[in-house]
Amino acid sequence: SLPVPSIQDIVRNDFQSVPERYIHENMDRPQVPDNLLASLEIPIIDFSLLTKGDEDEIRKLDFACKEWGFFQIINHGVGEKVLNKMKAAVAAFFALPLEEKKKYAKAANEIQGYGQNFVVSEDQKLDWSDMIYLITVPPENRNFKFWPLTLPGFKEAVEEYSAEIQKVAEEIYANFSVLMGLDRDGLKRLQGELKQGIRMNYYPVCSRPDLVLGISPHSDGSTFTLLLQDDEVTGLQIRHKEAWIPVKPIPNSLVVNIGDATEIQSNGMYKSIEHRAITNEEKPRISIATFMFPDDEQEIGPLESMIDDHHHPRMYRNIKYIDYIREKFARRMEGKAHTDFV
Ligand code: SIN
Ligand code: FE2
Repeated sequence: SLPVPSIQDIVRNDFQSVPERYIHENMDRPQVPDNLLASLEIPIIDFSLLTKGDEDEIRKLDFACKEWGFFQIINHGVGEKVLNKMKAAVAAFFALPLEEKKKYAKAANEIQGYGQNFVVSEDQKLDWSDMIYLITVPPENRNFKFWPLTLPGFKEAVEEYSAEIQKVAEEIYANFSVLMGLDRDGLKRLQGELKQGIRMNYYPVCSRPDLVLGISPHSDGSTFTLLLQDDEVTGLQIRHKEAWIPVKPIPNSLVVNIGDATEIQSNGMYKSIEHRAITNEEKPRISIATFMFPDDEQEIGPLESMIDDHHHPRMYRNIKYIDYIREKFARRMEGKAHTDFV
């Protein structure tokens, strides 16, 4: 059973309902309409230039990671058909009756499955979204009891998308490695086995988008995250110089953001930036977040090449990745920080 009701189901029964548990305190509410910095945009990286080793583009990538922690990639090589099949599969899943979706519900102690974002207390404000999270790489870690295998095309779409995204992710690891003073395989080796998980989010329409949040502010615990957004509906906002900047979708692009593990390995050169999602009155929004992360047992810490005792002293201790994630959870339990669960 679900610890929190499905918001999609609440809205389906009464589209004007905004239950108390979803209404944020004044200071946490989104500014609707967007603030004045709405015209700022995160950097756009032409991925086809990166794979050719174009030095200007690699410098642009470095700048994007240092100054923004977020960028959009175009010409990434994942075919439009693969992207559209994935989006259609996710839309088809959320269109299933609630009783059917509940067959894939995540249990309290599990991270995979259908449900809502991490909930720790009765008085915590709830997110205006439902989700399903699946571990996808390595393939032997897939737990098909959480996969809607009876939904035609779902498994193929996710497997194909996962494989294509993995190629993009490996190229990003290679570029980050070089930018951090390693050989192209350096960071890959330091993750232990490369892991990947995909979280599919559904944000129903909301009659009062000024009172609620689709996803509360958090940073990702991943090495980095690749987000496939709805082509038309804007929802993602990132923190930049004390303001919330919306990330306007570019059709067929992917949004990439630095996660905590890369912030640590880069010794703080690249920052894991806080972000959130807002809702709107007109259209539901779907987003698909692919988290790349190290092996649980892997120890992560600042790379030797990123430490300089005089100018950039070590900023983080070494820690086993699974312990890092446990501590991140614990901080959230104490209400000290917002976190994501990967
Ligand atoms: C996320 O932070 O995981 C999702 C953000 C989004 O839906 O744009
Ligand atoms: Fe996130």
